[in-house]
Amino acid sequence: MAIAPSLAYLSRNRKIDTRYYDYIRLSTLELISNEIKERKVPGSIAEVGVFKGKFARYLNAYFPDRALYLFDTFEGFDNRDKKKELGESYSTANQDFSETSVQQVLAIMPHPGKCIIKKGYFPETADDVRDTFAFVSLDTDLYDPIYNGLVYFYPRLNAGGYIMVHDFNNEGYKGVRDAVVRFCAEQQIGYTPLPDKAGSVVIVK
Ligand SMILES: C[S@@+](CC[C@H](N)C(=O)[O-])C[C@H]1O[C@@H](n2cnc3c(N)ncnc32)[C@H](O)[C@@H]1O
Repeated sequence: MAIAPSLAYLSRNRKIDTRYYDYIRLSTLELISNEIKERKVPGSIAEVGVFKGKFARYLNAYFPDRALYLFDTFEGFDNRDKKKELGESYSTANQDFSETSVQQVLAIMPHPGKCIIKKGYFPETADDVRDTFAFVSLDTDLYDPIYNGLVYFYPRLNAGGYIMVHDFNNEGYKGVRDAVVRFCAEQQIGYTPLPDKAGSVVIVK
């Protein structure tokens, strides 16, 4: 089957790093960042679930003038979240994300001075944050931090802002879909699934 070229009739210069493993994920972020800038949506940027910063570096690159909050234990999954995963058979929660550090993440950021590190268990690490947001990436794999991320960020998202949730259609992490579906039903809001590698979903306010 031939695949139609992407955005064949768009002439503006788009910056997509072809070394990134998932063109659709990165391309979607680039398009969203353009909408946020064109519509002048105010607010900071955040990612919950940073690991080595391989997606966060593009958040930092596409929004060079905005604060970027980086939430992670930087030590892998927390036992409090694992309990629910195993109890509900959402996932085995056995991927090891401990091989990272704050220093390693900051070293690959194009604008490290804009980064605000929130190391520890989310949502506890958000307790002292007083800010509103234009774009949030939730990529924690597990039900609890995804649901808690939506509960925390959606009310703090400015009109025209976006939340991108990774793994919505990843059957290895079934809790992500449940968390998004539950939250969106409670709030009576919609979402758009993407055909990227892990099946992300996008919520717009
Ligand atoms: C899949 S990795 C993130 C990958 C990264 N966004 C990327 O695209 O390269 C998931 C991360 O979520 C973090 N995480 C999961 N639950 C968390 C919680 N409750 N609080 C803080 N960090 C959490 C883990 O430590 C891990 O680094």
